[in-house]
Amino acid sequence: MSDARVGAARSERVRLRVAEADIGVEAAATSDGAIPGPDGDRVASGSGLSRMTDEREDVSRIVLVLNGPNLNLLGKRQPEIYGRETLADVEADCRRLAGELGLEIEFRQSNREYEIIDWIHEARGRVAGVVINPAAFTHTSVAILDALHAFEGPIIEVHISNVHKREEFRHRSYVSAVASGVIVGCGTQGYALALRRIAALVGAEAG
Ligand code: DQA
Repeated sequence: MSDARVGAARSERVRLRVAEADIGVEAAATSDGAIPGPDGDRVASGSGLSRMTDEREDVSRIVLVLNGPNLNLLGKRQPEIYGRETLADVEADCRRLAGELGLEIEFRQSNREYEIIDWIHEARGRVAGVVINPAAFTHTSVAILDALHAFEGPIIEVHISNVHKREEFRHRSYVSAVASGVIVGCGTQGYALALRRIAALVGAEAG
């Protein structure tokens, strides 16, 4: 999503709060409970909308950090490529930085595509932004791309290694088509860079 699209989604949320107060939720929602945005995008789910009546919910500070298959083996798996830091180390770093940035972290890893999709669905209308390292699913998963299309906030894609220096099949990312930004080849530091970018996009306060 472009910065402009993030801004549009935000203004749409403000409009929706007004619409909700004026005409009620049912009138504004489509049959599946989703709210169409100005360009046909969905900007909020039905369940998210009811929570948006609370002003604080509109400025959610939750960032979902998602990790795909084999990243549970970070630190042990091909350390010459991915380094020696474990995923638990990355999570601890993310939590520390999130505290400084005024963000709250939900940090998850799965080897199962459907689980990652379900977590993205659950993020709709609730989470401010998503940081995702889809690992090998990057190069194969239209399903994860489609799920991310249904998420209304900023998405930053992270790859620990420089995928462009590696095998040709790693050069293609389905997820990049929906990402606000992509961080590649910065090691595990890429997660911190992604969090800082999300903080900037959602207007979180530092310090
Ligand atoms: C990765 C790169 C992918 O190509 C690979 O399948 C991974 C990790 C990275 O972080 O560099 O598992 O996403």
